[in-house]
Amino acid sequence: MTEVLVGSLVDLREDVGTCVDAAGVAVAVFRSGHDVFAIANRCSHAEASLCEGEVFDGEVECPLHGAAFDITTGKALTLPATQPVATYRTDVRDGTVFVSIPDSEDS
Ligand code: FES
Repeated sequence: MTEVLVGSLVDLREDVGTCVDAAGVAVAVFRSGHDVFAIANRCSHAEASLCEGEVFDGEVECPLHGAAFDITTGKALTLPATQPVATYRTDVRDGTVFVSIPDSEDS
């Protein structure tokens, strides 16, 4: 497991994705209040970057074809995506956000 520093919680905008290169893994990080969630940044339908999607009500909408994903579980909620995306553990310590990448995924 590799823990990667994302930044300060106050610098993450509410309900706006942040694109993070975490140990070579592309991750989309989302803040909702004091909670932070991280999912794989690549849409399971094609190659779109989920951190650039619109966020509302705990969902992110893929900017390419509009599939929605649950930012807490990675589950695909609407077509055309049918497969979930990976989720990653996040931790907020003293106002600093970290994301953990399993050893099998870091490069
Ligand atoms: S690339 Fe995301 S829905 Fe098609």
